[in-house]
Amino acid sequence: MVNDITLELDDEAATLACGERFASILVAGLTIYLHGDLGAGKTTLVRGVLHGLGHVGKVKSPTYTLVEPYSIECNVKSSYNIYHFDLYRFMSEDEWDAAGFRDYFNAQSVCMIEWPEKAAHVLPEPDIHVRLALQNTGRKIQFSAGSALGMQCLEVF
Ligand SMILES: Nc1ncnc2c1ncn2[C@@H]1O[C@H](COP(=O)(O)OP(=O)(O)O)[C@@H](O)[C@H]1O
Ligand SMILES: [Mg+2]
Repeated sequence: MVNDITLELDDEAATLACGERFASILVAGLTIYLHGDLGAGKTTLVRGVLHGLGHVGKVKSPTYTLVEPYSIECNVKSSYNIYHFDLYRFMSEDEWDAAGFRDYFNAQSVCMIEWPEKAAHVLPEPDIHVRLALQNTGRKIQFSAGSALGMQCLEVF
């Protein structure tokens, strides 16, 4: 059984590489909370994940749009969606259903959420917690499971 996985990331390239590696263990249906202060590297990690999944375009920070969708091709017949949320500016929980955010959490998507604490009462429980923090000039990253599915994924990380 895995407990927490903690790694040191010396520079931005290490965060991107960690995201690419994390991408390889993702399965559709996961909800992932990304914890950490402004500048901790959450968006950089998501950029690495999307590169790892073959996304070639830009990855913008969804600070104003709250969510940015990406369609990932698995093979010629199937695809799934990555939804990258940044809830820093999320104001009212009434907004959640009005914006249709509930529908983004389904068996064909992976949701990665920055600032989950801003929508604590409406967000589904996470399968995986990722915690990023400053450490010297680099970052420390910690992965922990929030569900049995999350634990299965982290076993192979
Ligand atoms: N391991 C790292 N070491 C040093 N700087 C990093 C590392 N990972 C990311 N950064 C830098 O941290 C800054 C903020 O990253 P960002 O991903 O936007 O943070 P957040 O989304 O958590 O606010 C960026 O300039 C990025 O290059
Ligand atoms: Mg960010």
